[in-house]
Amino acid sequence: MQLGQPSRTALATAYARAYHQIASEPRIFTDPLAVRIAGITPEQLADLETSTSQEDDTDMRRRRRLFLAARARFAEDTVADAVAAGSRQVVILGAGLDTFAYRNPHPEVRVFEVDHPDTQEWKRQRLDAADIALPAALTFAPVDFESQTLAAGLAAAGFDRSRPAVFIWLGVVMYLTRDTILDTLRFVAGQTPPVRLVFDYLYPASAALPGEVDQRTARADRVAAIGEPWLSFFTADEIANVLRETGFSQVDDRDAPNLIAGYLGITPRPVATVPPHVLCAIRTA
Ligand SMILES: C[S@@+](CC[C@H](N)C(=O)[O-])C[C@H]1O[C@@H](n2cnc3c(N)ncnc32)[C@H](O)[C@@H]1O
Repeated sequence: MQLGQPSRTALATAYARAYHQIASEPRIFTDPLAVRIAGITPEQLADLETSTSQEDDTDMRRRRRLFLAARARFAEDTVADAVAAGSRQVVILGAGLDTFAYRNPHPEVRVFEVDHPDTQEWKRQRLDAADIALPAALTFAPVDFESQTLAAGLAAAGFDRSRPAVFIWLGVVMYLTRDTILDTLRFVAGQTPPVRLVFDYLYPASAALPGEVDQRTARADRVAAIGEPWLSFFTADEIANVLRETGFSQVDDRDAPNLIAGYLGITPRPVATVPPHVLCAIRTA
């Protein structure tokens, strides 16, 4: 993150969710606020997403967009499961322009949005400009994960460590240092169970297939150039071990093609890349 600037990758993922609402593609995730919070018109969104000046090809952008939609759906399905099982607290870590809190279908649930102070301030301006009301059940907790503790930020926001919770952490892990990720996993695992945690992660560059090396390097260079370099990577085995060592007893890990295909009820199409993964880790006792 660049000092004093909101996250630019947060805007990019918000645009992708917004365009997913209006694009002619199978709908995986429905978010009636996505276009409003993105702050641009559907025509501008379409121009951005289909612009030939962007380096990624159309099919790759479409697959990326479907993954972003699918990971949001996976997270909100996990929240619904957790609420049905009795959880009444949802924590969205690195929330960006996520809109769950503003269309939360569970009136008994409190939502805590944690984000870098600069991004959170920018989001509040966007909400205001889009005329999206702040629900009474939402509390903001500004925290820089690299220099402040989640424990202090959430305590100040009134989060209850002694009650079950579900944590959503989408599109953030790759931008954090390994120590910060491990501290966060320990904090989440230390919540009174049951606790559920959803996050996505990237495989290391060394796992890239020969045909995707240039593409991956170009993407890594692009995020680094806007001040948000990828810092941390895992394989599925590695993250499963880390989660087990931290105290999580169950891990449901899916790669992007399988996640998307599952929602569309189709067979996953083979891809020539090592895809991102999303997982739900649970600690029950
Ligand atoms: C790619 S965006 C994802 C936003 C949102 N979760 C989504 O899926 O659209 C990355 C998010 O991580 C947050 N982030 C990155 N580094 C952070 C840090 N050190 N402390 C707090 N938040 C951070 C950014 O502010 C931003 O909201």
